Amino acid sequence: MSSTDKVILVTGGAGYIGSHTALLLLEAGYKVYIIDNLDNSVEEAIERVAKLAGKYRKNLFFYKVDLRNKDQLEKIFSMVRFDAVVHFAGLKAVGESVAKPLLYHENNLIGTLNLLDLMNEHGCTKLVFSSSATVYGQPKSVPCTEDFPLSATNPYGRTKLFIEEIIRDVQKADPEWSVILLRYFNPVGAHQSGLIGEDPRGIPNNLMPFVQQVAVGRLAELSVFGTDYPTRDGTGVRDYIHVMDLADGHIAALRKLFTGAKGCSVYNLGTGRGTSVLEIVAAFERASGKKIPLKFIGRRAGDSSEVYASTEKVERELHWRARYGIDEMCRDQWNWARENPWGYRAPDSMQQSVESSRF
Ligand code: NAD
Ligand code: UFG
Repeated sequence: MSSTDKVILVTGGAGYIGSHTALLLLEAGYKVYIIDNLDNSVEEAIERVAKLAGKYRKNLFFYKVDLRNKDQLEKIFSMVRFDAVVHFAGLKAVGESVAKPLLYHENNLIGTLNLLDLMNEHGCTKLVFSSSATVYGQPKSVPCTEDFPLSATNPYGRTKLFIEEIIRDVQKADPEWSVILLRYFNPVGAHQSGLIGEDPRGIPNNLMPFVQQVAVGRLAELSVFGTDYPTRDGTGVRDYIHVMDLADGHIAALRKLFTGAKGCSVYNLGTGRGTSVLEIVAAFERASGKKIPLKFIGRRAGDSSEVYASTEKVERELHWRARYGIDEMCRDQWNWARENPWGYRAPDSMQQSVESSRF
């Protein structure tokens, strides 16, 4: 069976990482069914994926479904036989998860339980799950290897930790299941076309979208959280990874599952290199030609000084490695920002009302 015969369910495929991955899946010849409740995304993103996919757009289908609605989800599983699921759907804002823990546990856990149950019922036993480096908590050393002890510092992180454990239990109970848990480090950048990218609602929590919004004049300045970390320049160090590299990691994971991988494996998706806040700012200024005004303030509660991935295992076992560096990440982030300073929505039409549709 070639990838052209394979049908993939992509939950959360209208979102930032899901939309980029859906495009690569289509280009690799897969049939892609996106389900998304559009809670943190818009249908326009899927329309743009369809446009970029060209001749493959006929293989793209979209259903506006909330994973918590098991009846609706069941209808999709009854209609289509999926060869594998890539599960992105979930809420992801750390601060919001602290304020609304029940919402996060309900959305991320109930949604996943429904999905796993229906997969079981319909004999779909191949799964790639979006986990996060957040499950390393505040790592005691770097680089983070996949066998580091796991912990969570906030409710969002706990949902990732719990879901990882639930999936491990499901796989243990039925060895037919083959699962890959992918722990993303810090996804940034956008598709080279500038047509799709990250479009956070409200004030961004993460560094790169914040810098982008300062560059296009939506925000006045970047607050640098902490200048006294034991790092090269005192600011926090993270492992930023181009979203196209990240998307490609999912293709590598599926390839592994379709060539007979068994059990439940976990891989970091990062570059293995750390970059400081000030280095990101300098790279973005070079890419955009814009000055990013800075305000130096205290550390953000719960932040680690330095987090980056060990990529040894993923390189060895999935034959995947990130290709892009910080300059390319900033170039593509800026290209997306310049073309879409207000994201997918015009500033005066931030609301949208879309019903389910197919392409
Ligand atoms: P995103 O918010 O852009 O995409 C998530 C999508 O899931 C959104 O389109 C949202 O509408 C949808 N969704 C949420 N709850 C749903 C539900 N109950 N039913 C149906 N759809 C639902 O986020 P992203 O950055 O693309 O992240 C994708 C996944 O990767 C998430 O699980 C996230 O936790 C994880 N992750 C993201 C990062 C990051 O920094 N972006 C880092 C590590 C892990
Ligand atoms: N930072 C600033 N100013 C800002 C935003 C961030 O200085 O306005 C700094 C942070 O202190 C940190 C770095 O920029 O040093 C990166 O911060 P992000 O919030 O972009 O990323 P984090 O690594 O702190 O956290 C993100 C997600 C987590 C996830 C983690 C790894 O928010 O949920 O990436 O995937 F676990």
